[in-house]
Amino acid sequence: MISKNMEEAFNDQVAAEFYSAHLYLAMSAYLESIDLPGFASWMRVQYQEEVSHAEKIFDYVIERDGRAVVKSFEDPPVEWKSVLSVFEEAYAHEQKVTGLINNLVNLAQGETDHASQVFLHWFVNEQVEEEASVKTIVQQLKLLGDSKAGLFQIDRELGQRTFVPPAAGAE
Ligand code: FEO
Repeated sequence: MISKNMEEAFNDQVAAEFYSAHLYLAMSAYLESIDLPGFASWMRVQYQEEVSHAEKIFDYVIERDGRAVVKSFEDPPVEWKSVLSVFEEAYAHEQKVTGLINNLVNLAQGETDHASQVFLHWFVNEQVEEEASVKTIVQQLKLLGDSKAGLFQIDRELGQRTFVPPAAGAE
C-alpha cells in the first residue's frame, strides 16, 4: 500500500498533469486563432499526452491501494504574443514539470518506496523527450525569423504528428 505522503504527492501531480493538458489545449486554440492549424494540431496531441500522463498516475495510486483524488486547478492563459512565445512558454513549463517529477522521485527515495521509484522512471525519461521536442520547435522558430514560407512548411510538418497512447504498464 502506498504511504499517505506519496498518495498526496501523486494526487497533486495528477492535478499538475491536467493543468498541463489545459494549458496546451488553450495554446492549441490560440494557434488556431492565428491560422496555424499544424502547430495547433501538434499542441492538441500534446494535450492528449498530458491527459494520458494524469491517468497513468491516477491508475497507479489506485493500483497501490491508495485513494485517487481529483483536484481543481487554475485557468490557463487565453492569449499569447506569437507562436514563438507559445513554444517558449511550453518549454519553460516542461522544465517546471521536470522539477515536479524530480521532487516525486526524491520523495519516493526518502520513503524507500521502490515501486514508486520504478514507476517514476517512465516519467523521468518522458520529461527528457518532452523538453527536447519543444526546444527543437523553439529553435526552428528562432531560425525562421520572419519567413512566412518557412512557417508554412513547419506548420505542415507539425500537423503530421499523431497521438500514440503509452503502452499499458510501460516503464
Ligand atoms: Fe506530463 Fe509534459 O509532462
